[in-house]
Amino acid sequence: MAAAPHPGPLPASGERERVGDTCPRRACGEREGPIAPRWEGEGQRLAIRAPLSAAGGAEIAGLDLSRPLPAETVAEIRAALTEHQFVVFPGQSLSREQQYAFAAQLGPVEAHGGGRPGKRRDVAHVTANLDADGNPSDRFAQGANYRWHTDKPYYRTPPLLTVLYAVELPPAGGDTEFANTRLAYEALPAATKQRLAGLRVVFQWEGGRRPGYYASELPPVDHPLVRTHPVTGRPALYLGNHAVRIAGIDEIEGTALLGELLDHATQPCFTYAHRWRVGDLVVWDNTSLLHRAVANYEMNRYRRIMHRNVVKGPVPV
Ligand code: OGA
Ligand code: MN
Repeated sequence: MAAAPHPGPLPASGERERVGDTCPRRACGEREGPIAPRWEGEGQRLAIRAPLSAAGGAEIAGLDLSRPLPAETVAEIRAALTEHQFVVFPGQSLSREQQYAFAAQLGPVEAHGGGRPGKRRDVAHVTANLDADGNPSDRFAQGANYRWHTDKPYYRTPPLLTVLYAVELPPAGGDTEFANTRLAYEALPAATKQRLAGLRVVFQWEGGRRPGYYASELPPVDHPLVRTHPVTGRPALYLGNHAVRIAGIDEIEGTALLGELLDHATQPCFTYAHRWRVGDLVVWDNTSLLHRAVANYEMNRYRRIMHRNVVKGPVPV
């Protein structure tokens, strides 16, 4: 097949300000200095610009995700996710059905809301800062999405990927931050890695921690604190907002360790702030990233409307 024209010299798709473009040597080993994204895959069909930051990331421009993709394109997207942990697809225009269909090409899509009767199926679901009357509200900043987390780790089989698409944004802000827990793990001292080996972390959905509120439906589950990537086998820290303790360790000590590891993993050199544009679709790998929404806009004034799906994953090992 003939190669698509190469997209040309950087920067081609507009520069965005980024967090984590520089990295102090002390915290991150060899990763120091500005990150200069390169075009990858010259001569291939996809224009992949990577890394976007010290925390990884790639941008794939020029793809229309509203239509079914050839199998080799899907394979390239998967490879980019494996290599760079998250991929930004700018300039999309997707219905909720089309977004679902795109996600379904990456793997089995999880039903949202427990598949409650009356819920629309086979569409992306809406996540927005809108209250029951449809008005923007800052009460959402209290929610779990605004604390560092990975998606649904309180399930025995948490989702592998999350697909998030920007439909309506505030004039500025409303970022999503990512922290690369694979790089954070790699940067730990050998003695700490030894200390973590074999530990299991207990996750629970916050609702499950309130007596009587779905408690029986979502009991705590435990996963390896250092989980390995299902494709590469590379280790990454698995923790975040829903991590409540470490199995078999004194609760105070375990919580302190989780706090230290979270502080370590979310240093600027391991993080990237995505400054959304309408039409951006971002896919991220929950096995080696934390993420959080940032309340850096007037949440009572502006609407931020996103469409979302998650793709099922394996039991973490
Ligand atoms: C999510 C999530 C963050 C955001 O969709 O899982 O955490 O910025 N979103 O909306
Ligand atoms: Mn999330």
